[in-house]
Amino acid sequence: MGALVGFLLGLMFLMSCKSSAQPEAEKDLVAKGREVFFNETFEGNGRTCGTCHPEENNFTIDPAFIATLPDDDPLFVAEFNPDLEENFENPRLMREVGLILENLDGFDDLANKFTMRGVPHTLALPTSVASRQGPRTGWSGDGAPGDGSLRSFSTGAVIQHFTKTLNRVPDVDFRLPTDEELDALEAFMLSLGRQEDLVLPLALKGTVASRGQDIFNDPTSGKCFACHVNAGANADPTIFGPDAGNMNFNTGVEELPDQPADLTGELVPPDDGFGVPGDSTFNTPPLVEAADTGPFFHNNSVETIEGAVAFYNGDAFNNSPAGQLLVQATGSGINLDATQVEAVAAFLRVINALENIGESIDFTQRAAERGFFERDESETLLARAIDETDDSIMVLAGGGLHPDAVAFLEEARRLAEEGIDSFFSRGRLARQAATELEKARDELVETSMKTTQK
Ligand code: HEC
Ligand code: HEC
Repeated sequence: MGALVGFLLGLMFLMSCKSSAQPEAEKDLVAKGREVFFNETFEGNGRTCGTCHPEENNFTIDPAFIATLPDDDPLFVAEFNPDLEENFENPRLMREVGLILENLDGFDDLANKFTMRGVPHTLALPTSVASRQGPRTGWSGDGAPGDGSLRSFSTGAVIQHFTKTLNRVPDVDFRLPTDEELDALEAFMLSLGRQEDLVLPLALKGTVASRGQDIFNDPTSGKCFACHVNAGANADPTIFGPDAGNMNFNTGVEELPDQPADLTGELVPPDDGFGVPGDSTFNTPPLVEAADTGPFFHNNSVETIEGAVAFYNGDAFNNSPAGQLLVQATGSGINLDATQVEAVAAFLRVINALENIGESIDFTQRAAERGFFERDESETLLARAIDETDDSIMVLAGGGLHPDAVAFLEEARRLAEEGIDSFFSRGRLARQAATELEKARDELVETSMKTTQK
């Protein structure tokens, strides 16, 4: 009897070890992936994934961020490595428009066969890759070599961006990621940002943002939900079928007149989108993360979120295959007036701020839990909270939205900064910052109905 109880207890102990060991292993993999993402150069030209996907700038780069980098930053290898001077990047387009050169259709004619694309963030990937046709990564959905999966994406990124010369010979110009590194990078990227879609409508308190949400979801005016259901990257299942997921469309962005990159006079070949040769479709990005990660669209052609919404009123969209599809299905394209454009943009600003505030609260609370001997960690967490709070302030103030929330955010920022400088009161200050952030969030949305994350 005693032996049996002992055996059962032992078995239970083993089982409980097993179930708690799983998340630990996952955590280790994510930590390993973080290390690789930000520090591993794969014996190449000095770049890391973090060169173009820096954490402090929402895992993307734009001209304003690029302007803060020193001239010897590996982003600029084409400016100081003679082997990469030609046909690797276009330094002017990189600095002025934030564009990166990609040889998506192959490396056989480097002088003519390339596209210039903006850097997408790597947030909310668990919600924005799966489609009925398989995984969709990159602006055209075909960014990853081989099986097209997020895991394979890293291999393609190393070959494209990390090479020391244009010969691109593995083990000479760079080394390819190992299986362990690919697993770790995938786990790390999947851990970033939002893990699930919002459920709209949110009980927003702002008058204009609230109206914007209605227009966004209205099948007769905004029609945005059709491709960005719940302001994410997936198509509406009631229109496109239950497992449509993250679809590709030709929305006519390539047809926009006066694109900044074209205005420079530099060579910018047309981007033919998905496949080789391309079918001119591009992959739908998530919108919760949009407002603080401009410029917008695959070619960084539009600077402001208001401009990105207004894109859907123009000829480029309404004459495009996707625009014509809307006309066939609903009898009209998209035609919003200035007040409505601003309302939809206000909605996109507010859901972006809510996501950022949620992250900042999480960072400040975790910082408050760190002990005296974990000061490096709590400092890093507070610095991240400040980055996200700065974004919330910029996104709200930039649209003239929620001045009271902005005041709470400014106070939270001040407290977090004081916390970083404080020797003994860091925990208390981090908690106070969290409280201010919660007050800011309560200005944006009914408290009974917070957003879904974390
Ligand atoms: C020189 C800049 C640069 C570097 C370095 C870089 N990327 Fe990117 N990344 C880009 C660009 C540009 C795109 C868009 C590519 C496309 O549209 O196919 C992109 C797209 C992505 C995407 C697709 C995101 C989505 O929403 O579909 C992922 C994932 C990604 N990169 C991961 C990585 C990883 C992992 C590394 C390191 C191994 C890396 N990147 C290194 C510029 C860079
Ligand atoms: C037919 C499908 C479709 C509809 C309808 C649609 N979108 Fe999009 N959206 C896309 C695709 C595809 C892209 C990527 C296009 C590209 O970069 O070439 C995109 C990109 C965007 C972007 C840029 C995001 C970024 O990170 O650069 C914003 C903002 C946006 N859409 C907002 C809206 C709004 C607001 C509406 C409604 C007025 C709307 N969309 C309607 C498919 C759609």
